[in-house]
Amino acid sequence: MIFNIEAFDLNKAADSVLFNIKSDCIVVGILHEKTLSGVAQMLNVATKGLISRLVKSGDLNAKAGSTLMLHEVAGVNAPRVLLVSLGKHNVLSPKTFIDASSAAWRAVSATRATSATWMLAQVAVNNRDISWNVRISVLTLRELNYQYTQTKTKAAADADNDNAIKKVLIAVDHEYNQACNTALGEGVAIANGIDLTRELGNLPSNICTPTYLASIAKQLENDWQLKVEVLDQKQIETLKMGSFLSVAKGSAQAPKFIVLEYQGTSSNQAPVVLVGKGITFDSGGISIKLSEHMDEMKYDMCGASAVLGTFRAIVEMHLKLNVVGLIPTCENMPSGNANKPGDVVTSLSGQTIEVLNTDAEGRLVLCDALTYAERFKPAAVIDIASLTGACVIALGHHNSGLFSRNDALANMLLTAGLYASDPVWRLPLDEEYQDQLKSNFADISNTGGRSAGSITAACFLSRFAQAYPWAHLDIAGTAWKGGREKGATGRPVPLLTQFLIDRAK
Ligand code: BES
Ligand code: MN
Ligand code: ZN
Repeated sequence: MIFNIEAFDLNKAADSVLFNIKSDCIVVGILHEKTLSGVAQMLNVATKGLISRLVKSGDLNAKAGSTLMLHEVAGVNAPRVLLVSLGKHNVLSPKTFIDASSAAWRAVSATRATSATWMLAQVAVNNRDISWNVRISVLTLRELNYQYTQTKTKAAADADNDNAIKKVLIAVDHEYNQACNTALGEGVAIANGIDLTRELGNLPSNICTPTYLASIAKQLENDWQLKVEVLDQKQIETLKMGSFLSVAKGSAQAPKFIVLEYQGTSSNQAPVVLVGKGITFDSGGISIKLSEHMDEMKYDMCGASAVLGTFRAIVEMHLKLNVVGLIPTCENMPSGNANKPGDVVTSLSGQTIEVLNTDAEGRLVLCDALTYAERFKPAAVIDIASLTGACVIALGHHNSGLFSRNDALANMLLTAGLYASDPVWRLPLDEEYQDQLKSNFADISNTGGRSAGSITAACFLSRFAQAYPWAHLDIAGTAWKGGREKGATGRPVPLLTQFLIDRAK
């Protein structure tokens, strides 16, 4: 799918140019105000009042997201015109804009149109600029367009694929040409990152193994300007990552520790380090999980795939920032070699850990990566992990959990999440909760009991993240959907890329 910006003189009523565009479908947003304005008004003039008649008759429902497909409209060159309602307020909420865009793209995708001209870029959205409109327009279409096919036969995959759109033109006024071209590039790069994250998440664990994740990282190194190093079991042993290795040893799959380094600016600028939980399957280990929904634990590497997807996005954007990615990846399986409840392991930091529950494995692999991060003298470290079921109970599927003692870093992430429509909600990390991690046999236990499970998990990680500004994102409720819509969402790639874009400024 190819996207392009096309600049017009939208201030002058250049309707003839606008509606002479060669395209299979033009998409126009309609605000149900007293009078039509902008492109809608131009279209109304070009069609001798057709649009206002359709609005008046109610054939185009005023409810935001309602669509009406018109065919062979006199005065318009394109064979199809899609009208999409933007509601009754002259300033839209970002959510309304996204929902209406999504409905519009779905309506276009349902036709055989192979090209489309998008005229919604200059619609006013509350607290957003035109760059945002362009980016989110690209992202909503690419989100609909993503299709998982890798483990289906070609016939089955083809039968699922009903989207014909190949070329998209986004119409903007001359004045915004340059800003919109930048936004378009960002949108496409972020969409490519999201697609990678979704695809890796959706792949079954018998294909998406730690070795497979490492090969994807190596492929990124091949295709783009970045350095990737993959440490194998021996090297991880030499490093003394005893906590990470204790989880890995129950599985027949070899663990990997993946290090990605992107240098987008002078080497003396401290990097942002992203740490992603890469459990390619979480059975729970000896503290085994219930069978129901256990298949969803193939998604327990979505922190790792979000790091890879974020790298995929920033290398394409040539972001002027240094970023390091760390991915401890292995399976969590029961076996004669597996961790047993009560075992004590020694982490890379030297701290000993009592493994009271082998299903609390995420923190065991992350803690060694957090210690490893120190060697980069980072400006900030963010770990991304599907860490606790408790986070799903607390926040559901809309907000990721955010934990940090650093207000500046937390606020940057909150702001980036809002802008990117990939929100996070901050939860407490008070000292008081640390007591729940007391162990009689080690420096710390890996579980803190039933109450405040997400917070005590974050508290555990905080013990290993004292050397730099740090934040933890619990994506257990947001990285994938269950049920009929089962599939990876690509979150929090939009949040992370926005955060990095903001930091590069
Ligand atoms: N990967 C899970 C967290 C999870 C569970 C994510 C369900 C999404 C849905 C994690 O490794 C885990 O098992 N956590 C335990 C921790 C507990 C044993 C302290 C949990 O949340 O039950
Ligand atoms: Mn687990
Ligand atoms: Zn897990």
